[in-house]
Amino acid sequence: MLRACSVDELPPGESVRIAGPEPIAVFNADGELYAIGDTCTHQDASLADGWLEGCFVECPLHAALFDLRTGLPSCLPAKQPVRTYQVQVDEGVIYVLADAAEDAA
Ligand code: FES
Repeated sequence: MLRACSVDELPPGESVRIAGPEPIAVFNADGELYAIGDTCTHQDASLADGWLEGCFVECPLHAALFDLRTGLPSCLPAKQPVRTYQVQVDEGVIYVLADAAEDAA
C-alpha cells in the first residue's frame, strides 16, 4: 500500500504522481479518487500532467483520452490501456493498493 498524499492535498480537478512499481497518477475527479499508471501507453508522457474531463484524463502530449475507471483509451493515438489501481482513504490519507492492481488489459 503506497501513501499518495492527504485528502486535503488533492482537491477536485487535481492530480498527483507517486512512485511505485511504476509511476502512478492519482486523480480527484469531482470527488471520486482514481489511480492509474502514470505513463501514457503511446509514448512517455505523464498522465498526471494531463487534463481531467469527467472520468477521463487527456494525455498532455497527443491528447489520447484514458478512462480512469478502466484504464482503457477511448481514442487514438493510444491503443493500449494503462493499469488501474484501487484507492483507499484512511484517516484523511489517500493510499494506492499497488499490490492489488487490476490489469485492465
Ligand atoms: S504520449 Fe500520450 S497520446 Fe502520445
